[in-house]
Amino acid sequence: MSEKTSEISGFYKLTPQERAMMVARFADLNESDISEISKTGALNLELADKLIENVISTIELPVGIAVNFRINGKDYLIPMAIEEASVVAACSNAAKIARASGGFQSTSSDPVMIGQVQLTGCKDFEKVNAHIMAHRGEIIDLANSRSRTLSSMNAGAKDIELRRINDPEGSIVLHLKVDVRDAMGANIVNSMCETIAPFLESITGCRTNLRILSNLTPDRIARSRAKFRKDLIGGEEVVRNIIRSYEMADVDPFRAATHNKGIMNGIDAVILATMNDWRSAEANAHTYHNLSGHLSLTRYSVDENGDLVGEIEIPLAVGTVGGSTNTAKKAAVFRKVLGVRSSSEFAQVLAAVGLAQNFAAIRALSAEGIQKGHMGLHARSLAVSVGARGNEIDQISDTMVKEGNISMARARDILDSIRKA
Ligand code: MEV
Repeated sequence: MSEKTSEISGFYKLTPQERAMMVARFADLNESDISEISKTGALNLELADKLIENVISTIELPVGIAVNFRINGKDYLIPMAIEEASVVAACSNAAKIARASGGFQSTSSDPVMIGQVQLTGCKDFEKVNAHIMAHRGEIIDLANSRSRTLSSMNAGAKDIELRRINDPEGSIVLHLKVDVRDAMGANIVNSMCETIAPFLESITGCRTNLRILSNLTPDRIARSRAKFRKDLIGGEEVVRNIIRSYEMADVDPFRAATHNKGIMNGIDAVILATMNDWRSAEANAHTYHNLSGHLSLTRYSVDENGDLVGEIEIPLAVGTVGGSTNTAKKAAVFRKVLGVRSSSEFAQVLAAVGLAQNFAAIRALSAEGIQKGHMGLHARSLAVSVGARGNEIDQISDTMVKEGNISMARARDILDSIRKA
């Protein structure tokens, strides 16, 4: 028997269906597997095939709506695409508690991204800096020649900065600061960096290597703040425990990774529903503490009444125009549901969602524990995975929760007995 090979030339030239059949042969998929991957939803194969390469199918996630959000005096319904149970409910619940004290107050900075051009083979930083600063205006104009739209909005490239970094060569890196308005900005910033690179070489004698945006956006920050009344969250002891939880996350990287993951549960889900770049949001958020010196992206304190005040400061580069945000119609509709008019408003909403999600997680952890809330939904999802339908799902999950025995085997036993009865 010939050995399987993943070396396939011209895979990209096939239709999605032909590719799927090749994959099926390679992975020994049966008829039912093939029928499963050939199902698509609103994102059909034709469109998917235009978005990325080598498409064979699409994948769906549940989209839930987080309710109760009031941010800067405006009400929002928040679409969240996520596979994890409890996230949407927890977020809605936190928003309800915050709402009792007026909701979230969010702010955001101008949407400024950084493009990086790495200059190599030029050790004299001061000399290079002098050459570059002497041509500062020309460099910015050249970058702006890439976008008439941004220039007409008085946005676009605004400033440059030079840094020496600690790589073995001691490279010099030029930062191009670009106000990208309502775009995420990756495409335009990358184009600007590539456009100015030859000019930088000609005025400095250095060679340029990397020319790409930075996904770390310390100039594109959103903040949100909310009060959570102690009488609505379990009293003083819970408030104290939430503070303890936050203080641990701020100094312990092992806890910070989980604490900040909870924040991103909320933020990524909204970013995904609106087809923005959640990998960039992750990289950005998790690198940010290198600059801020704080491991936790949130902060908590107690006010004069003993109520809990939560705050978040998080870099967020999300767009309401450009990228895939309008290609997939559903994502555009979810953005309409969200009702954000600019990338800045979008970032303010996301910051509030991140704070709500984090508060919900550490409140549960600081009181009854996380498993109690998770278990009902986990039981339902186990019931579905063993094939339960309609009322059977509730019967199985209720029984398992009551017994405190939530497992696939038990779900299967209960389903058998329901069907035999
Ligand atoms: C689970 O997806 C997220 C939590 O672990 C976050 C946290 O521990 O803060 C619950």
